Amino acid sequence: AEDPLVVFTPSGKRGRFPVGTPVLTAARQLGVDLDSVCGGRGICSKCQITPSYGEFPKHGVTVADDALSEWNKVEQRYKDKRGLIDGRRLGCQAKVEGDIVIDVPPESQVHRQVVRKRAEVRDITMNPAVRLYYVEVEEPDMHKPSGDLERLIEALEKQWEIKGVEADLRILQLMQPVLRKGGWKVTVAVHLGDETTPPKIMQIWPGFYEGTIYGLAVDLGSTTIAAHLCDLKTGEVVASSGIMNPQIRFGEDLMSRVSYAMMNAGGDKEMTSAVRDGMNALFDQIAGEAEIDKELIVDAVFVCNPVMHHLFLGIDPFELGQAPFALATSDAMRLKATELDLTLHPSARVYLLPCIAGHVGADAAAVALSEAPDKSEDLALIVDVGTNAEILLGNKEKVLACSSPTGPAFEGAQISSGQRAAPGAIERVEIDPVTKEPRFRIIGSDIWSDENGFAEAIATTGITGICGSGIIEAIAEMRLAGVLDASGLIGSAEQTGSVRCIQDGRTNAYLLWDGSAEGGPTITVTNPDIRAIQMAKAALYSGARLLMDKFGVDTVDRVVLAGAFGAHISAKHAMVLGMIPDCVLDKVTSAGNAAGTGARIALLNTKARGEIEDTVRQIEKIETAVEPRFQEHFVNASAIPNSAEPFPILES
Ligand code: FES
Repeated sequence: AEDPLVVFTPSGKRGRFPVGTPVLTAARQLGVDLDSVCGGRGICSKCQITPSYGEFPKHGVTVADDALSEWNKVEQRYKDKRGLIDGRRLGCQAKVEGDIVIDVPPESQVHRQVVRKRAEVRDITMNPAVRLYYVEVEEPDMHKPSGDLERLIEALEKQWEIKGVEADLRILQLMQPVLRKGGWKVTVAVHLGDETTPPKIMQIWPGFYEGTIYGLAVDLGSTTIAAHLCDLKTGEVVASSGIMNPQIRFGEDLMSRVSYAMMNAGGDKEMTSAVRDGMNALFDQIAGEAEIDKELIVDAVFVCNPVMHHLFLGIDPFELGQAPFALATSDAMRLKATELDLTLHPSARVYLLPCIAGHVGADAAAVALSEAPDKSEDLALIVDVGTNAEILLGNKEKVLACSSPTGPAFEGAQISSGQRAAPGAIERVEIDPVTKEPRFRIIGSDIWSDENGFAEAIATTGITGICGSGIIEAIAEMRLAGVLDASGLIGSAEQTGSVRCIQDGRTNAYLLWDGSAEGGPTITVTNPDIRAIQMAKAALYSGARLLMDKFGVDTVDRVVLAGAFGAHISAKHAMVLGMIPDCVLDKVTSAGNAAGTGARIALLNTKARGEIEDTVRQIEKIETAVEPRFQEHFVNASAIPNSAEPFPILES
């Protein structure tokens, strides 16, 4: 008779195997993605499967008389000790008896997908740089003298097919008592190696190590540093934390930090140690939150703009402050954490994504990794708005990138009542087109200013100022209500018929909130505020428009707003202002912290690292500073929304 047929779902892989073949063995032979940390010894339970058609002999019940029963005992023991979901079996213990369809649940797949929080652009496939392996090492034998390490390496090669593993002195110092304590059974964490390094043992535990190992995805911004601590076994984010970038004391924005380095001997070194110290403090904080030992963090991925990239690496950013803006290197970096003075696991590794160009950094590369414009069927415009806007435009055919100096106005700086997004800041604004009266909402409360209970709701925060998204909405609403003309001038009370339009020096201002009666601030939108936003939005728009010229198009299919700021601004208001090109409103989406997501993808999937390096090499870089058309677009884009280009979709 023919051997039984075994079909795996969801892969659909199939083959015939002799009765008695363990499912794990069948899976391996067919190349089915079925996990195992203990190598089929019934310890790790990573290999769980569910028979969905056909059956294996039942757990334990036939132990005494079943000819194949030895394996049942191992599985029964596991079930008694740890429990097993009903219907689940250990793939390394369950053996083929007859035709069967076997389902491999997601948590049993090595390269399982980690669920992303929002509408998926691209799933994260688990393929971390460091993995855990359980091995049984041969005991020493006087007749066949060999070192314990050699036998451990041999075991890894035989049981896991990992070739050429190395170990450093630290492991040698730890290893002998661990091997003996575990009765020659140990779990090792192995960095699987990359283009520059062979596989390496990073840690060793006696017996089967129940715990996990961790990695960090770090978004090193000029203002804040945010980190996600990820479980490298499951891909889950177990803690997230952030701090202000301690370099702020050397300059709010990047260019002032570059000039600090230029003006002060050793200034770059000061900034390098400031950011590294801050990073270590952040890592202590996040490990504390997750209640884990920092030494369990074995891998870290960093994304940052070019100036932060250089300062973090200890490279003087001098060249980035002047044309032709030459990077020390645009390649991805693979380093040891100790080279950057980071206190994690003593042999932890660090990966920095590649930079795209002198002004377009590893953060933009991370956005490209997360949003994958190079895999998009339709033409996507992706903007990451910060003090510099990084802009990507592309589809499957090609991807273009540039950066545009928007300045800090979008973050509330340079605005008379401006402030960072924090409780107390006005973030949403509506203006009645007839009465010209405003209503607004502040961060920390979801009650509008004209609703009952507003005063109580904001009693603790007060109204302190207006943040970036608030000022954008305010200006767009002023334009829609007709208190502001296309050139950016606020009308007088007589012209607009609104007492909200007050005289402010030689121009007018719009009174959003008068808190003087309660001793609070008076919040107005002034003409210089509008000027600052006009400059910022013109820079953003002309960068995008320049890429469209280079691409040879007049419209885009969709717009993605990335970054924390992008998550807060309303698409409609951004378009009324002419920040972004005309586009169908529901094709404008927010990607949240796409750079952070890109860092997480690179952390959890080493294959994605190679992919983004290839993608970045193919991205066409456009330098806005040398493009004459940029100036032309800029002038037109200063108007609200634009003096030269129609916004037909917006108008309809
Ligand atoms: Fe570890 Fe089956 S492979 S329990």
